[in-house]
Amino acid sequence: MQALIDAIRSQGRGIGSEIVKVDSFLNHRLDTGLLFEMGQAFAQRYAGDKPDLVLTVEASGIALALATAHALGDIPVVFAKKAPAANQSGDMAEEKIYSFTHGHECHIRVDLRYIPAGAKVLIVDDFLANGEALRGLIAILKRAQAQLIGVGIAIEKGFQPGGQKIRAMGIPLLSLAVIEEIRDGHIRFQDTVQQ
Ligand code: G4P
Repeated sequence: MQALIDAIRSQGRGIGSEIVKVDSFLNHRLDTGLLFEMGQAFAQRYAGDKPDLVLTVEASGIALALATAHALGDIPVVFAKKAPAANQSGDMAEEKIYSFTHGHECHIRVDLRYIPAGAKVLIVDDFLANGEALRGLIAILKRAQAQLIGVGIAIEKGFQPGGQKIRAMGIPLLSLAVIEEIRDGHIRFQDTVQQ
């Protein structure tokens, strides 16, 4: 999506060869116009599958999921929680995921009351790197006996294996920007986005 690529080009900062900082519009300060545009792009791609809800992980995925769910006709958003709750109730599905970016593992949890069996689910997230968050969310959907209709990602890092893993599983994946390489602070994008 050109507006996202332009925002990464003008405001993003490449760090080392693996990380792109996009705090000014996606991870700390939110560019609401751009977020709603991204939500519309996901909705356009997946509306035909008639998703019942959008699933994401806190924190940065929530705004993008909200924009997408709004564009899909105000369907609900469910976000996996990371912080352990002392007074958790309901039937919680929990998965351990390892963040290579942050170098630690964490648990993500979803109350299964909010993902009914048979529900058609669209997963949305801000970054796709190694695919650990997606692996965890997909496992939770399996446990819920829900149906994954596809995945929408704002920024895929094409030099990390997450995107390949998801495509190899035959899961529809729409990445709005795919970064091919980060070198000397310069960010290079993949020409054509594979879907
Ligand atoms: P994976 O799920 O694809 O395996 O990715 P990984 O574990 O490596 O990513 C963990 C966290 O780091 C995620 O955020 C992800 O959005 C973020 N991340 C990954 N690569 C980049 C990057 O190049 N730039 C930025 N800015 N973030 C990246 P999180 O820990 O869930 O944090 P939050 O921001 O959603 O709270």
